[in-house]
Amino acid sequence: MSTFLGQQRPLVIAHRGASSLAPEMTMAAYLKARQDLADGYECDVQLTKDLQPVCFHDTNLNRTSNGFGRLGAKTLAELKRLDYGTWFGELPTEFTIEQWCSMLTLSELLEFVAAQSTAPIMLIETKHISANGIKLEAATIAAIKKFGLDNHDSTKPRAALMSFSIPALRRARSIDPDLYTVFLLAKKLPALDKLSNFVGSNAWGLGIHLLRTNPELVEQARSNGIQVFVWTVNTPEQIELCLKYKVDVIITDNPAATNQTIARLAAS
Ligand code: G3P
Ligand code: CA
Repeated sequence: MSTFLGQQRPLVIAHRGASSLAPEMTMAAYLKARQDLADGYECDVQLTKDLQPVCFHDTNLNRTSNGFGRLGAKTLAELKRLDYGTWFGELPTEFTIEQWCSMLTLSELLEFVAAQSTAPIMLIETKHISANGIKLEAATIAAIKKFGLDNHDSTKPRAALMSFSIPALRRARSIDPDLYTVFLLAKKLPALDKLSNFVGSNAWGLGIHLLRTNPELVEQARSNGIQVFVWTVNTPEQIELCLKYKVDVIITDNPAATNQTIARLAAS
């Protein structure tokens, strides 16, 4: 089984928070993930028009807010006025409207993470889908350092920077050579060993579809001293596949259900 953090099971990371149970990347989603005993959290980060790093997945505001247009065209003050929760469902009694409906800045999320005595892991994906991207890694790393999450342990990072973008990962490496980084892969790229060496990441983040079609990537990663993260893992069959290949980290929309399935499979 996996040796990541010396554990005998993969770490379970809440993708955009517990995003199958609360609006993605709101405080409600991260509070739910903490309550459901996630080992850590994932978020996407982008820069606003006034260069503030905020937690948001899409290029446009339409799907997950009551706003419209491009996120990168709005200031933080404009974005903070929108509602990011009502599209998902009615406010449950356990959360405040602020927790359910407000956009989080990266600083607000990292403050929540840094305050926890369980030392959860924070996986931050820099999204390169809008303008201003070139400054995103510097802003993200500054926030990681501000909250003391840059512990530079290649087996036990507090925060890791992830990206599909090779220039972004190279930029992060040049800003902080010891930061834990994850090279996200949606497909098998040619000359991957060489490319990975060029990128210099600590882990590969494979889509579950890629693990299914190319499980040999796990052994390939191991032989390069690289850890294996898998996203987005939600069904028992997908979890079983991750356990079969002994991956280090499972990124899921529902950490409670994933933990239950892991426990059930381990006992069977
Ligand atoms: O954790 C990696 C995964 O989040 C990448 O895909 O689209 O959910 O950001 P996406
Ligand atoms: Ca992501």
